[in-house]
Amino acid sequence: MNSRRDFVKQLSAAALAAGAAPTVLSWAMPAQQSATLDIAGEDGMIVRSFRFIDLETPVEYFNTWLTPVPHFFVRNHMHEPSELDAQDWRLTVGGEIEKPLTLTLAELSKLEPHSVVNTLECAGNGRSLHRPQVPGVQWGKGAVSTARFSGPRLRDVLERVGVKPTAKHVMFRGLDEVPGKVPPFIRSVPIEKALDSDTLIATRMNGAPLTKHHGFPARAIVPGWVGAASCKWLTEIKVLDAEFVGNFMNPGYRFPNNPVKPGEAVKPEDTHEVTGLNVKSVISGPLDGASLRAGKVSVHGAAWAGEADIVKVEISTDSGVTWSAASLGHDQAHYAWRFWNY
Ligand code: MTE
Repeated sequence: MNSRRDFVKQLSAAALAAGAAPTVLSWAMPAQQSATLDIAGEDGMIVRSFRFIDLETPVEYFNTWLTPVPHFFVRNHMHEPSELDAQDWRLTVGGEIEKPLTLTLAELSKLEPHSVVNTLECAGNGRSLHRPQVPGVQWGKGAVSTARFSGPRLRDVLERVGVKPTAKHVMFRGLDEVPGKVPPFIRSVPIEKALDSDTLIATRMNGAPLTKHHGFPARAIVPGWVGAASCKWLTEIKVLDAEFVGNFMNPGYRFPNNPVKPGEAVKPEDTHEVTGLNVKSVISGPLDGASLRAGKVSVHGAAWAGEADIVKVEISTDSGVTWSAASLGHDQAHYAWRFWNY
């Protein structure tokens, strides 16, 4: 008899076999299958890509303010590092600085820790709902989750190495295994955000060491910004005199400067890089297609706004003619989602 585990393995093998030789664009092609995953600790997650591990949180799991790590969405552009040894791991800091530095995990752990509750959302969250369809992982509504991340402030490390006045951006490189000719996942953030007292080199998530899927042993956490800013398996920090030049800064992860019709072509020079998350709200219950008894129905969900706070959520039950205020949940933090109920 075939177990569910075997079934998922077969699906995975079929997806790998169907994968084209990697090209610059192949990382962005939509996944054909979606299924639930059967690997240790990740039960119930929706698999959006088998080639690299991309797992979506079903919206019915938006029921605890802090998402348990096994239910926290996973977004990988490349293969996860096959070997990660905390003893051998090193973080190098270089570029526009006075004193280049290499840190071991033990040295990093001696720096004063700081915690930030951050709602991490993939810039592509909700992509499958776009019309016309756009290439890329076809996320539903669950490429977003919230956790308490802890670790030293990036600022403390940058102060230790002495940032030169020429510093404009800070680049992060992870230990991803880059297949074929695919460009490596390297991005940079402006020096002001890097020096913000809430930007972290996180080593812990919800009180425990980071798991491999979420960037063990250390990752950047750039709170309130698109998830792509928060580089996992961090191994190199480089201070630059300009924005990093690479596929994941341009043409990747850019917004049109002015609103355009869905699907309309935009010239690269009329775009800017994505930074802070936009305001968004998701209904997590009742679920789409649910059968309900006639009468009063409670509607609940989560709303978030990147670097801004949610102060009000309104809901309409008559297709937008009238709006009523929902009650907001008690749990709140600056970069975190706010639950609501109506
Ligand atoms: N860091 C590395 N090194 N490689 C990646 O593919 N994906 C980014 C970011 N950091 C990525 C990365 C993207 S697009 C997102 S949305 C977040 O990690 C997802 O973090 P998570 O997998 O912990 O949810």
